[in-house]
Amino acid sequence: MRDELLGTVKSAIHCRWNDDKNCIECLLPITLPTSKVRIKRKGIEPIAPRRTEISAEDLIEWQISYKNGKGQIIELGEILRLAYKNKLISKSDICSIIEKFENAPTFDETFYISREPSPQNLSFYGFKVLYEKTPILHLDLQDGCYIEIILKHKQKAVGYQPMVYIYIPMKNITPNLIGRAVKQKEKVIWVPRKEHILGLLKAFLLASKAHRNDIKEICLKIVKNIL
Ligand code: ADE
Repeated sequence: MRDELLGTVKSAIHCRWNDDKNCIECLLPITLPTSKVRIKRKGIEPIAPRRTEISAEDLIEWQISYKNGKGQIIELGEILRLAYKNKLISKSDICSIIEKFENAPTFDETFYISREPSPQNLSFYGFKVLYEKTPILHLDLQDGCYIEIILKHKQKAVGYQPMVYIYIPMKNITPNLIGRAVKQKEKVIWVPRKEHILGLLKAFLLASKAHRNDIKEICLKIVKNIL
């Protein structure tokens, strides 16, 4: 039952092939505040989209996954499969990126979260003010989208957990939401292009060894036509 419920929530994000337009379409729900898709002002501050007028500077933040709890491919996994099947990306596009990062150090093993005193050693009612510094890898794409890998402490274990996000400007989605609030259960369509797909592939290859192994396995199955 729980799994079924989770399945329903997750399938709210759906990626499909549009044969007429020869492109992939991702249907993104934007009214679920705790979901993997959120609207953020300037990409930073989450907003309540049903109670806030959307501005051109807002971005959709998508914590994009590649497989679900059962190991089935979803989201980026599905995008990669559709892109390869419909020749938006080639075997050599995929394999050359994998080879390039095969032995690269990973983000989680190279960076760490640190703490610093405030610039003028500020204090607040007897407490020293410290700042936590979080490393972020930021990749700007040509159409205003960007990809980030953000380091987090693991919630239930020791070590770091890199999180991968793609940020999508409002101008890049349909329907246009700028100048109004979002309607109940409204979804938007975003069309991922080659640049986004390969950028996300690169992000997961660099994030951690576990992400690298997972995404490599998916890519190899796709190019062998097993998925
Ligand atoms: N595992 C699956 N998707 C992920 C994401 N977007 N960031 C970090 N780990 C993930």
